[in-house]
Amino acid sequence: MRILMTTAEYAPLAKVGGLGDAVAALSRALAARGHDIRVVMPLYGHMDVGELGIVPDPEAAALPIRQNGRVRVVRLRRWTDPGGPIVHLLEQDELFGRAGIYGYGNVDEFSDTPLRLGLHAAAALALPVVLGWTPDVVHAHDAAAALSVIGLTHWYGGTTGLGEADSVLTIHNLAHQSVHSRDVIDQFDLPEGLGWHPGLLEYEGFLNILKGGILHAGRVNTVSPTYAREVVEDPAFGCGLGEVLRSRGDDFSGIINGIDADVWDPAADEFLPAPFTAADLAGKDICRQELCRELGLVPGRPWFGDPDRDGPILGIVGRLAWQKGYDLVLPELDAVVKAGWRLAVLGTGEESIAAGFRSAAERHPGHVVFAERFDEGLAHRIIAGSDLFLMPSRFEPCGLTQMYALRYGSVPIVRFTGGLADTVPDVSLPDGVGFVFEPMESGSIGYALERAGDLWRDRAGWDTLVRRGMALEFGWDGPAVKYEEMYAELASQRRGGTAP
Ligand code: ADP
Ligand code: GLC
Repeated sequence: MRILMTTAEYAPLAKVGGLGDAVAALSRALAARGHDIRVVMPLYGHMDVGELGIVPDPEAAALPIRQNGRVRVVRLRRWTDPGGPIVHLLEQDELFGRAGIYGYGNVDEFSDTPLRLGLHAAAALALPVVLGWTPDVVHAHDAAAALSVIGLTHWYGGTTGLGEADSVLTIHNLAHQSVHSRDVIDQFDLPEGLGWHPGLLEYEGFLNILKGGILHAGRVNTVSPTYAREVVEDPAFGCGLGEVLRSRGDDFSGIINGIDADVWDPAADEFLPAPFTAADLAGKDICRQELCRELGLVPGRPWFGDPDRDGPILGIVGRLAWQKGYDLVLPELDAVVKAGWRLAVLGTGEESIAAGFRSAAERHPGHVVFAERFDEGLAHRIIAGSDLFLMPSRFEPCGLTQMYALRYGSVPIVRFTGGLADTVPDVSLPDGVGFVFEPMESGSIGYALERAGDLWRDRAGWDTLVRRGMALEFGWDGPAVKYEEMYAELASQRRGGTAP
């Protein structure tokens, strides 16, 4: 099939979190299964065109896009993913030329977000027409690309070719909905009524692009079965759109993400000082020592007096956002360090959480290290070099990092929610690979850490646990088949038949 992916992130070109990883890995998995995959995304100002190997698009030079009464010329560039997909990059200085993808925390500079999203969607849909490449499916990812499926209906509906394509919206995070004042609808060349109650894009007096995407896409899915259930059953997870999702009935589902086993492979990861496998963990010890050296972590103290066992290293890598629950870890840190743990933290985001980690690092030099930056290589090295990996998320649509941690022999400590619940069974179960807690309180995180510390004393038991986690397969083949089935059902419905 021909599938057009529209997205704001695609790793390694531009990435804020798991969206970039997930879209790239899904695209590669589908390409490997014989599909013709094209991806379309903005070329952001911080992307190093030369270094990344981005070239002028040989198929088409530019797209003139009429938007809000004026024409903007979008120059076309492309990157050929060695994994198969072709990534078309939209270059337009005024709207995409600045550094940054969404501008969280820098709202003023990104006050033109609706125009940016509108240009991305309009260019994404103009592209296939210019290329003479008609997709069977337009697959949009998250609110930032959801306008593509709305535009497909209203800009191309009823036309032959692109207008006959099916559409899918994958929600990687329901908390980000792209909500704007209602008059912004004028910028999209969409019927004005869509923005007025009970129009398809209106929500509580505002324009809600994600809601519009949910109601326009042929199929909607999110990225784990448990999160798909949580968002329709519990208003706290639904972020106001639970009922809207529920209204889609069986057209809304949860498909778990996989991980890109080539990019995240401890046996062949160029970011690591030494490779390792489940059969030979010697390289993991080197990664651990080198991580301590790189970050300035002091040598560990004997764990409960055992000279052969030092205290565990706990890794944290993630966006410092309310979603991730790190604020509840902060009150536990003094006790954790006192017990002999060391912490390697990498992340950027909300100031209150960053300040908490900064202060912990100052209180416990050599025991808590906080790297406040985005650093792909260090993320790999922390995941490889730590013994345990903490994800105490309040909600987690899927979560990729716990799967990376498992593959790299770092035992995950996770909250029982969303994709974390779907991927990490607790050690108390026969197939357990991590430590799972449920109440969203500091105390229960502390208790999970204590349980982990107890098991850490048993070297043989610990190695068995590590190896069991490393043996798990989180490949994309299974999830890719589910997406294929979704595309096939849509195609068959369009032809007026029943699903295969
Ligand atoms: P989310 O998408 O909610 O951020 P995921 O677990 O799905 O959570 O994916 C997070 C991805 O972002 C992982 O690849 C992780 O390594 C990466 N990441 C997050 N913060 C940083 C950072 N500061 N530096 C490098 N990589 C990061
Ligand atoms: C989002 C979610 C995360 C998920 C990722 C990729 O950013 O927060 O849970 O793993 O998207 O789907």
